[in-house]
Amino acid sequence: MKVAIVGATGLVGSVMLKVLEERNFPMDELLLVASARSIGKEINYKNKAIKVIGLQEAVNQKPNIALFSAGGSTSLEWAPKFAEVGTTVIDNSSAWRMDLDKKLVVPEINANQLTKNDKIIANPNCSTIQMVMALAPLHKKYKMKRVVVSTYQSVSGTGVKAVEQLENEIAGIKGEMAYPYPIAKNAIPHCDVFEETGYTKEEMKLVRETQKILDDNTIAVTATAVRIPTAGGHSESVNVEFENDFNLTEVRELLSATDGVVVQDNTDVNTYPMPMYANGKDDVFVGRIRRDMSQPNSLNMWIVSDNLRKGAATNTVQIAEYLVANSLV
Ligand SMILES: NC(=O)c1ccc[n+]([C@@H]2O[C@H](COP(=O)([O-])OP(=O)(O)OC[C@H]3O[C@@H](n4cnc5c(N)ncnc54)[C@H](OP(=O)(O)O)[C@@H]3O)[C@@H](O)[C@H]2O)c1
Repeated sequence: MKVAIVGATGLVGSVMLKVLEERNFPMDELLLVASARSIGKEINYKNKAIKVIGLQEAVNQKPNIALFSAGGSTSLEWAPKFAEVGTTVIDNSSAWRMDLDKKLVVPEINANQLTKNDKIIANPNCSTIQMVMALAPLHKKYKMKRVVVSTYQSVSGTGVKAVEQLENEIAGIKGEMAYPYPIAKNAIPHCDVFEETGYTKEEMKLVRETQKILDDNTIAVTATAVRIPTAGGHSESVNVEFENDFNLTEVRELLSATDGVVVQDNTDVNTYPMPMYANGKDDVFVGRIRRDMSQPNSLNMWIVSDNLRKGAATNTVQIAEYLVANSLV
């Protein structure tokens, strides 16, 4: 088993390395790949220094699996080149997510769709993954009609440059800006680029990817995505209207019984999910579970998860684990 990490020097890539090591992913060789800027740089994996190589050199080595986190344009150009030599690509960018021929996978929900023929597999957007992890069991039981979500997203969701912008601003250092405005002491209602409708691409990912993962285009979703000055971990206020009524105890039981979801919900002792505690963990945390009293069959929740782990690296590695366990690579 030869595995390549494309984007190994980035935020997601470095968490992938950590997750592969923690989970002791079975492999004989690891290729670390980044842009021409990083070729020759050394990165440690299991106490061994590995030299970063370029994309063509990695293709030439025909890895069995390539975990991509190097941006959309790199994926568009290079994922097919890896697929052509027989590599199965699992891609973190938005390049392939809405392609009709590509599967968009959250292993706990729809990994069973995967076959040997899937050579490019898409990993959903971080804010979508954590939301559908909590929504999937509830949709199955009560059938969702409409979801209204507002996100509070950390700077690590934008990459290395944005984390540096926040750190510089906190330290009072003038540096490169990843956002059009300061992010420290601020909230920017603008994640990714604006579309013609006035929504951002990030907001529309929550709409389109949710429908694709849950395989139901009748679910109405509307979103507002906001960047806030937290270092790691996205939070979401989610309002869901179901076709059928629910019982709050049963909702808590359903969520607690879902693999990868942890309920943190006891307002008597101020227990609710927060990014500072979700940071570094693989689970999706759900709290503030309460009935929306303004209309029937409606629920409010607060969902928090580490965007670099379950939102990206962990979900990708879980897909790779599923492929290996089911002899699909
Ligand atoms: N951050 C998140 O929470 C998150 C969540 C889900 C998905 N994603 C997606 O994952 C991808 C990476 O995000 P990130 O946050 O890790 O960004 P990042 O910290 O900026 O890292 C980008 C990585 O891509 C590499 N890269 C850039 N251009 C390249 C090129 N032309 N050829 C080869 N490698 C290239 C960089 O290599 P150099 O160091 O050599 O420049 C670096 O390793 C993006 O597509 C992003 O949308 C991010």
